[in-house]
Amino acid sequence: ASAQKIKSPIMGWASWNNYRVNISENIIKKQTDALVSSGLAAFGYKYVNIDDGYFNNRYADGRFRLDSIKFPNGMKVVADYIHSKGLKAGFYSEAGANTCGSIWDAQKGGVGGGLFGHDQQDVDLFLKSWGFDYLKVDFCGGLEQKLDEKERYTAIGNAIKRTGRTDINYNVCRWQFPGTWVTSLANSWRISGDINPSWKSILSIIDKNTFLAQYASQGHYNDMDMLEVGRGLSYEEDQSHFSMWCILSSPLILGNDLTKLSEQTKNILTNAEVIAVNQDTTGLQAKLVSDNHAGLQVWAKHLDGKLSNKRAVVLFNASEKAEKMSISWKQLHLKGKISVRDLWKHEDLIVQGDTSFTATVPAHGVVMLKVIGTTNVLQSIFEAEYAY
Ligand code: GLA
Repeated sequence: ASAQKIKSPIMGWASWNNYRVNISENIIKKQTDALVSSGLAAFGYKYVNIDDGYFNNRYADGRFRLDSIKFPNGMKVVADYIHSKGLKAGFYSEAGANTCGSIWDAQKGGVGGGLFGHDQQDVDLFLKSWGFDYLKVDFCGGLEQKLDEKERYTAIGNAIKRTGRTDINYNVCRWQFPGTWVTSLANSWRISGDINPSWKSILSIIDKNTFLAQYASQGHYNDMDMLEVGRGLSYEEDQSHFSMWCILSSPLILGNDLTKLSEQTKNILTNAEVIAVNQDTTGLQAKLVSDNHAGLQVWAKHLDGKLSNKRAVVLFNASEKAEKMSISWKQLHLKGKISVRDLWKHEDLIVQGDTSFTATVPAHGVVMLKVIGTTNVLQSIFEAEYAY
């Protein structure tokens, strides 16, 4: 197969948020089916990622051992099943000897499923023999053993290269921005601890990504962790969560049970205009345009490259009551005739006044816009780099 470089953040589903270590062949197949039958796959959600909880230590000779109760037919069967639906298969591992799940839950999961001491052997097994297309590598065992992150992730990256597969998407799962070394090594890297379905968690992850835009590039993104849309947040909160993950160019990996998808959740996850903001191929991430430090923030992302005249904008109200919020053309570095489209209402707006746009944004809510001007005021890449 010809290897295609993936330029946009990847989209899909992963088992962790809803199932933790309690996964099985049956669960993965059912979620795979639901990804297709719900129509989500057609909107770009292509990866089915198996997270922690699938192994049972190693055989005495060091070979990797699957949990044969959860995965009685082996793992290739599961990857093949995912592929047979036209989807991509994702897998999980760990840079140290023990995965996070097995450290926390040593009695339940097998300990010793990590790559440490078995890099090439395991990576070959996962990516060549079983055919997985994505590898997320965690660092709980790495911390436990006090390993050097850069060294381990580079070694694993090299093991991936030696498989000969050039289409692998490599995710570094460290609970903070790992350092600039990661930005060319991995396709995405975590920048925070684990998400949970609370408003506080959403806000703290946005805060952590606020000044990391400079590290994103085509095919290399800050990973804000798997989505909690459809898992208990309010409608406004789910909409804000999704809008912010899209404009901040995070991978969009769903974490909900796809067999129980409400119409509301589906409407959020299949908003093609909002998804398009995330899937822009030019590798940019939204920057903070204004912040009143009381929950009102305006974010903007250049669409189609740094010197374009198109912006995605999120008016984000993290406060406890509805507020009026504005964005001016000047703040967006746009001039001339301006058009504004509301990406949640799916309508072109009549712009009142010729210098800015104002809307009332609900508590914990957003208004998301696409703003196009006739001219971009920024004259050089240098100016665009430092804009906002
Ligand atoms: C860590 C990661 C999570 C998940 C679990 C699995 O906490 O950050 O995303 O993979 O490990 O144990």
